[in-house]
Amino acid sequence: MAEATTATDVPTIELEGLAVQDVAQKVTPWDVEGPEVNGVKLAIDYDKLIVQFGTRRIDEAMLERFTKVTGHAPHLFLRRGIFFSHRELDVILDRHEQGKPFYLYTGRGPSRGHMHIGHMLPFVFCKWLQDVFDVPLVVQLTDDEKFLYKSDLKAEQTYQYAVDTVREIAAIGFKPEKTFIFSNMGFMGGAFYRNVLKISRCITYNMARSSFGYTETDHIGKIHFPSIQAAPAFCSTFPAIFGDRTDIPCLIPCGIDQDPYFRLTRDVAKPLKFKKPSLIHGQFLPALQGVTTKMSSSIDSSAIFMDDSPNVIKNKINKHAFSGGPTSLRELEEFGSNPDVDISYQYLTYFVDDDQEIADLAVSYRRGEITSGAMKKRCIEVLQKFVGDFQEREKAITQADVEDFMNPDYPRPFAALAKK
Ligand code: TRP
Repeated sequence: MAEATTATDVPTIELEGLAVQDVAQKVTPWDVEGPEVNGVKLAIDYDKLIVQFGTRRIDEAMLERFTKVTGHAPHLFLRRGIFFSHRELDVILDRHEQGKPFYLYTGRGPSRGHMHIGHMLPFVFCKWLQDVFDVPLVVQLTDDEKFLYKSDLKAEQTYQYAVDTVREIAAIGFKPEKTFIFSNMGFMGGAFYRNVLKISRCITYNMARSSFGYTETDHIGKIHFPSIQAAPAFCSTFPAIFGDRTDIPCLIPCGIDQDPYFRLTRDVAKPLKFKKPSLIHGQFLPALQGVTTKMSSSIDSSAIFMDDSPNVIKNKINKHAFSGGPTSLRELEEFGSNPDVDISYQYLTYFVDDDQEIADLAVSYRRGEITSGAMKKRCIEVLQKFVGDFQEREKAITQADVEDFMNPDYPRPFAALAKK
């Protein structure tokens, strides 16, 4: 990939007579790197991304409105700022209040092997949103994108990864009556392809290059791909669910790195006379090694995978989860520990719903009343349960279930929407 436009240049600063070149953070669909200051890697600055990308913070007022409109207390991902940013979430809440329909759209680039706990976040969140709003969810599996970006993979392989991914997504608890999961390679055609074409005619090479930083040696498959990720954001891509309606918008929960795709999607909505999608952006789950990098499938010791056994989870947390804490009991009692950098504590904030427990853990940890070993122990328990429950559900998913999710014509009771 070429330099993406989201990385900004930072000036060289003088430090005790030494010139140190800081490195800006970089967040693109292909690369997520925190900033580097004085040679030290720092955590991703999400406030800065809001400014750079021009999105809005999900603030208290928005959460209050959410509660008022849905009658539900916000999910812990919202309460704790894990899904922290949005584009026009208010439009979706207004519609819901007025009894007007919308749908959810998310996706995943399928890869070999199981997902890790970080990959679960948007799906766990979608499941909760679907339960709260009772709306259809469409899930795009970008086996085509994987094929285009990984020159060592065969098309047949990435398609198979997509089918395997359906099992995993199903195991989060979705139902085929409400959820359509499709592989781009499998589903392309008909209304989907017509929308891809309409979109592609609205995006010039210059627009795509300034969003994604393509260079002249990038093959044309990459350059065309954004039209394919954009198409499911428009309801006319799914006539089996929405009939011939073109006026039902979607809400897209996604990692903030996917925002460039949907900025472009929002730009083409107007000329096509489609509804602009709304977005809700999530942060990345940190790697076991610390808050400065995100969990990555390609580094086994950085991640907890959804097929890890209880023992593997225990060993990974004990061995790799960064604590950054005091090195002796005396130091612990005197200075306490820092939950902001302690990975076990950080993970607990994603997976424990009880606000009181989370608050108490932080306070006691800072005071030195809890050891990092005890924090790890609690984290191990919680993740063993999260992963174990998932594995139980996954065992129960059959081939027939997978086919139902992937069947565009599976009876989905939202057909009533098509008639309004
Ligand atoms: N490009 C995304 C990935 O590689 C997959 C994706 C497709 C997606 N459509 C989406 C993610 C919509 C979020 C929302 O993971």
